Amino acid sequence: MTVRSINNDIYFVGSLHWDRRIFDELIPLPEGTSYNAYLIRGSEKTAIIDSVDPEKWHELETNLCELGIDKLDYIITNHSEQDHSGSIPMLLEKYPEAMVVTNEKCKAFEMDHLHICEDKFIVIKDNETLSLGNKTLRFLMTPWVHWPETMVTYLEEDKILFSCDFFGSHYAGSGLYAGENPTVVHGAKRYYAEIMMPFRTTIVRNIDKVTQFDIKMIAPSHGPIYDKPEIIIEAYRDWTSDKVKKEVLIPFVSMHGSTKLMVDYLTDRLIKKGFCVKQFNLPVTDVGELAMSLVDASTIIIGSPMVLAGAHPAAVYATFLANALRPKTKFVSIVGSFGWGGKMVEQLSGLISNLNVDIIEPVLVKGMPREEDYKKIDELIEKLEEKHKTL
Ligand code: FEO
Repeated sequence: MTVRSINNDIYFVGSLHWDRRIFDELIPLPEGTSYNAYLIRGSEKTAIIDSVDPEKWHELETNLCELGIDKLDYIITNHSEQDHSGSIPMLLEKYPEAMVVTNEKCKAFEMDHLHICEDKFIVIKDNETLSLGNKTLRFLMTPWVHWPETMVTYLEEDKILFSCDFFGSHYAGSGLYAGENPTVVHGAKRYYAEIMMPFRTTIVRNIDKVTQFDIKMIAPSHGPIYDKPEIIIEAYRDWTSDKVKKEVLIPFVSMHGSTKLMVDYLTDRLIKKGFCVKQFNLPVTDVGELAMSLVDASTIIIGSPMVLAGAHPAAVYATFLANALRPKTKFVSIVGSFGWGGKMVEQLSGLISNLNVDIIEPVLVKGMPREEDYKKIDELIEKLEEKHKTL
């Protein structure tokens, strides 16, 4: 990836990872990702904000050479996860005079994860500033915009917020700026769902904290730069609000078709009644799509057969993941088929202790559903209609 100028003496020096397809061995990346590092040349000091995944170090090094950077004073590290901090040891080797600037917690993490010596750090506190001469960096602690040590850096003169993971998107594209591109906001929602959603209430506070400043641009460390920052800020306010959409998600798995018959009947009846419904056939679903839908849906109805005396493992995984992501879901139910018995309802109910939900009575049928079983699904829908009226 080549160097690109953003503003006076501010450059993108990061890297695009077009073909990365999974992150943390967990999160699918259908559109790749980027590791955005930014070089700021002040009249007296030069700083880099975040680095790149170590796999892409050579690209960062090439970019710094292209800019003729032979002396680096500060390495600002907003977050210690290795996709942003992993090239700091290489930067320190190349620029031994540079000091690593971060908060106390991030310092400790980087000493553990990267074995950076303690004497290489300058520790800053919330709202502290660092002068580069004609440019001033202000550091704002924003915990849990992924990990507990995360912070953002605001460049006062240029009014740019360097937000690292916060507001980011896993998106590799040649455009430097997001503009009003809805694809970028879509990617940012997916990113929010997978990374930020479990910390929703803390993120609300962090949005309020950073928006006290006049922000002309948000430069995250994944995805394009927001040159119209109000678009992503408003999207975040919506995703983190308490509002839910009257939407029914049906993640399901079916082994021999009985659960699928129930799920299809349920889906068709809900659609006829005007519900917004999304089915996710779990063995072929990108879990990122499911996570993104969890951001604002009111209801989840899990479909699973019983296998080995419990729910199908695909349903267990999806339920576990939904619980870990802590969406603002209000109602949950279960439908499924069994051959001789098991504890599916107890098992799945026990997996959602993080969710503050009403459980609508599940519908389990023996074998292939009969007419009376479909009537029970109709009753489930009637109960859901009543619940939705309370929203
Ligand atoms: Fe992009 Fe939490 O690292």
